[in-house]
Amino acid sequence: MALVTTTEMFKKAYDGGYAIGAFNVNNMEIVQGITEAAGELNSPVILQVSKGARAYANHTYLVKLVEAAVAENPDIPIALHLDHGDSFELCKSCIDGGFTSVMIDASSKPFEENIAITKQVVEYAHAHGAVVEAELGTLAGVEDEVVVEAGQESYTRPEEVAEFVDKTGCDSLAIAIGTSHGAYKFTAAQCTRNEKGILVPPPLRFDVLKECIDMIPGFPIVLHGSSSVPQDFVKIINENGGQMPDAIGIPEDQLREAAKLAVCKINIDSDIRLAMTAVMRQYFNENPSHFDPRQYLKPARQAVKDMVAHKIVNVLGSNGKA
Ligand code: G3H
Ligand code: 13P
Ligand code: ZN
Repeated sequence: MALVTTTEMFKKAYDGGYAIGAFNVNNMEIVQGITEAAGELNSPVILQVSKGARAYANHTYLVKLVEAAVAENPDIPIALHLDHGDSFELCKSCIDGGFTSVMIDASSKPFEENIAITKQVVEYAHAHGAVVEAELGTLAGVEDEVVVEAGQESYTRPEEVAEFVDKTGCDSLAIAIGTSHGAYKFTAAQCTRNEKGILVPPPLRFDVLKECIDMIPGFPIVLHGSSSVPQDFVKIINENGGQMPDAIGIPEDQLREAAKLAVCKINIDSDIRLAMTAVMRQYFNENPSHFDPRQYLKPARQAVKDMVAHKIVNVLGSNGKA
């Protein structure tokens, strides 16, 4: 199977009450870890590339790595997506360079401006066989060079989504319902504590999600900032020289609930970073004399694979849906 767009994946996911994982890729080990898990679990998957990933690894290297993954996993649908495209030119460059899907993120711009730039990208993408994700609302957290402090985010306004989708012709819509980018999604002040004193994040705004669904029934919704920041990774990092106090993510059971509704794409990047960092910190601590990158990248790749397999089965529900 060649690279696919997300159109069919999303239709089946919407109807089937599950979501497709969109995992950020930056190097070979990450591409391999994700696609080996998806291949073994017979799951569709989206590999997404940020502007920063493209600057780090180079467009051609990333496309060729993804093409290699497609060749190695011929039985599962794989889409190649631009994450947080910030201009028409960047989206065009990715579409011209083999991506099957792009996100134009003009969510920080005024509504009418967001519509205008999204529409421009949609026209180009559709004329070239690609699909477009757009965004309404603002997430907290860190994405590329943009930092939005926790508490300064703004939820998507349900009354805007139908007009936006209609006027832009976009294929999916990312909304803000309380997820957040990065490994520090909430401040302690935004959380409560359970009986063991552990921080409990504020729940996702399912009321906003449901209002959005009512406005655009049948339309695929996307959640960014959906890493759960597993505390076992954080613990390993902190026990092996790392310093990530108060790292906190989105509870997986809430993402599972969202996946059963109209959420068809769930973005995960930070959990990949945490999985690799935990394994590598522990490896270096336990093997101070080793210096062959294959020795520590191999378990790091395995950790990505295990984490993605867990998400596919326990959070996304996309296993067996290829
Ligand atoms: O939303 C942002 C993604 O986690 C990508 O992060 O821009 O550091 O590659 P990055
Ligand atoms: P996380 O930082 O929660 O992994 O979110 C990633 C993301 O939304 C990429 O667009
Ligand atoms: Zn994002």
